[in-house]
Amino acid sequence: MMETKCVPADAQAIEQAAALLRSGQVVAFPTETVYGLGANALDDQAVRAIFAAKERPADNPLIVHIAKREQLRGLCHVTDTAVKLMDAYWPGPLTMLLMKTDLVPAVTTAGLPSVAVRCPNHPVALALLSACALPIAAPSANRSGRPSPTAAAHVLEDMRGRIPLILDGGACRVGVESTVVDLTGDVPCVLRPGAVTPADIARIVGQCTVAPSVMRPLMEGESAPSPGMRHRHYAPRAKMTVYVGSDEHVARAISRRYDQTDGAVILAHTGALPLFGNRRAYSLGASPREGAHLLFQRLREMDETGCTLILAQGWEAQGDALAVMNRMARAAAFDIVYV
Ligand code: TXA
Ligand code: MG
Repeated sequence: MMETKCVPADAQAIEQAAALLRSGQVVAFPTETVYGLGANALDDQAVRAIFAAKERPADNPLIVHIAKREQLRGLCHVTDTAVKLMDAYWPGPLTMLLMKTDLVPAVTTAGLPSVAVRCPNHPVALALLSACALPIAAPSANRSGRPSPTAAAHVLEDMRGRIPLILDGGACRVGVESTVVDLTGDVPCVLRPGAVTPADIARIVGQCTVAPSVMRPLMEGESAPSPGMRHRHYAPRAKMTVYVGSDEHVARAISRRYDQTDGAVILAHTGALPLFGNRRAYSLGASPREGAHLLFQRLREMDETGCTLILAQGWEAQGDALAVMNRMARAAAFDIVYV
């Protein structure tokens, strides 16, 4: 088995990581959203090694990360709309789908004619991308079916023995993956919500729609605009139900269910915690933004307790809360109760 080093992301470690990337290997690195599992996006074999390490289905395409816009030259067709959004939100948690060129191998985009591109806003990611001077394909650094990693320790849990190096850059600020917006049609369409909201996009380019499958399961036979929507997302071993409503109503509904069940744990807004008395409750922060920052970490922690049921307090799925609710809905297999 390969030895996996997990080291603080100092200048020397970043150089070492860049050398590994240049030699076709896979390296994990921090971004502002979640940790990524990177390899040379233009090298077939290197990209295949990412899919192998993650056990990711080959039909789920990867995001290509760059440090400078100029690196897109030759990779994809950059539209005026894309330039406006880059001016507004790059570097940052916004991934854009653009039509690709032949330079991008089919494994990277899972055979699709579009390529997802993003410039992350994290000093370690940017230093690494500059040092290797390559476009880097990077999915989230979890094993398929596990929550995305928001700390180096989560990456080590999932990737030990599978990759040579993890750069430890501390906890990720945002905590959920980037917004994915499709710019290949007439109107920008959000396929995966993130910290940059549909309203943020509409403010810059006039309009923006949201794919219906963002907050509901795909219908039988419905085609997925993004392959990531088709695949089973993180499901905790425990069953999960999400409750939405006032603190009082949610606390009453959750407490009743908790008392009827063995092995239940609660995940609730900080302000609501006192309403649960001495029942076993974890904090999801005080706002949707804090919830996004904490969710994946909490799901890992709760799974470790061996609980059988997670009773979670959510938010109305709109505005700032769309990103965290998209992940909570999927973790709960869309079992959402409005009280
Ligand atoms: O924040 C992030 O985006 C992180 C960090 C590491 O940058 N990356 C990440 O990658 O979340 P991943 O592979 O876990 O998610 C990429 C999503 C998937 O749902 C995939 O299906 C979609 O983007 N995607 C990528 N390329 C696509 C394409 N050409 N067309 C449609 N969807 C695409
Ligand atoms: Mg992922």
